[in-house]
Amino acid sequence: MTQQQFETILVTGGAGFIGSNFISYFLARNKNIRVVNLDLLTYAGDLNNLEEVESNCRYIFVQGDICNRKLIEELFVSRFLGKNTKALKPLLNRLKSYVSPL
Ligand SMILES: NC(=O)c1ccc[n+]([C@@H]2O[C@H](COP(=O)([O-])OP(=O)(O)OC[C@H]3O[C@@H](n4cnc5c(N)ncnc54)[C@H](O)[C@@H]3O)[C@@H](O)[C@H]2O)c1
Repeated sequence: MTQQQFETILVTGGAGFIGSNFISYFLARNKNIRVVNLDLLTYAGDLNNLEEVESNCRYIFVQGDICNRKLIEELFVSRFLGKNTKALKPLLNRLKSYVSPL
């Protein structure tokens, strides 16, 4: 199966306690699903929680705020969720500009 055939789900707060466990569990049990994790990385977020999936080609991390309308629109309007991982690189770089220091 090519990456383009993956269905993609968006998980918010995926670096937290519930989200990180959900992502690991979900990726292991759903081989045709790709997960985009949108997390602001507040005090509660820790990417170490996701070590076991960080090299998984079906896992993508985006740092950002779910309250940031422009970021969310960019994720959806650009069809982020439908693109393959390689094609996402320029977009992922652009999304970094939405992250402002807490
Ligand atoms: N060891 C344990 O048993 C343990 C540890 C931690 C938490 N808990 C429990 O788990 C529950 C909380 O877990 P959770 O996963 O819901 O919360 P969490 O606080 O663990 O994680 C929330 C995540 O959301 C992210 N986040 C916050 N605001 C955001 C925003 N505006 N945009 C994007 N991301 C944002 C944070 O960076 C974090 O990664 C509580 O009941 C808590 O008591 C248990």
